[in-house]
Amino acid sequence: MEIIIAKSYEEMSEKAAQIMKEIIEENPAAVIGLPTGSTPIGMYKRLSEMCQKGELSFAKATSFNIDEYVGLPESDPNSYHYFIGEHFLNNIDIPSEKTHLPNGMAEKLEEEAENYEETLAAAGYLDVLFAGIGHDGHLGFDEPGDHFQRRTNLVDLDPITIEANSRFFNNKEEVPTQAITMGIGTMMASRKIVVMASGEGKAEIVKQLVESEVTPQLPATILHFHPNALLLLDAEAAKLL
Ligand code: GLP
Repeated sequence: MEIIIAKSYEEMSEKAAQIMKEIIEENPAAVIGLPTGSTPIGMYKRLSEMCQKGELSFAKATSFNIDEYVGLPESDPNSYHYFIGEHFLNNIDIPSEKTHLPNGMAEKLEEEAENYEETLAAAGYLDVLFAGIGHDGHLGFDEPGDHFQRRTNLVDLDPITIEANSRFFNNKEEVPTQAITMGIGTMMASRKIVVMASGEGKAEIVKQLVESEVTPQLPATILHFHPNALLLLDAEAAKLL
């Protein structure tokens, strides 16, 4: 796993945007995996600017979001549908039929997860996956456990994740308790993985990730087994390394 430490959040975001730009320039029809959370907002802002200035086009790309809460309609500002539209997809020239997110409102959630995995498989999986990391070491919503999740699946969220994500909601009770997320196996099928972490609050989990053996108790450690994984940090997230 390669590690790059940027001086600031802005520099980390710029670097992430440049990586995405290079991938799209090399292969305009790239299949890209998209995260939510506060970490990637700066990257999305830069990419949106590049696209609006005509420096970059996603017209031939295909996108798959990593995850979505169960039970939030697309119109809910806390849904990942809403988030990714607002911060990225609505600002770029990607055709809407080429963008994908799990449907957390599906009647049959397990079937929805299975179909999402099949759609990803049919697309040949991801050329690049961008991801953030949870305070408990989760990727997407793949929480710590006894084994790595192989495929896209329906998951229960950990109390620690509910607590961390409650800052976006009015209160903890409003945070959904379940989500549909790509599995760790799904993510590992990506040709390249870029995990970003920013701020002091992530310093401890970043240290654990870098120093730990691969273990499903800290799902992001799987990156050690990926041949083309990059950990992109700002100085604060890297301060315990
Ligand atoms: C959520 C998302 C993750 C994200 C994490 C960290 O739990 N499901 O994909 O990486 O939040 O979010 P933030 O970037 O806000 O710290």
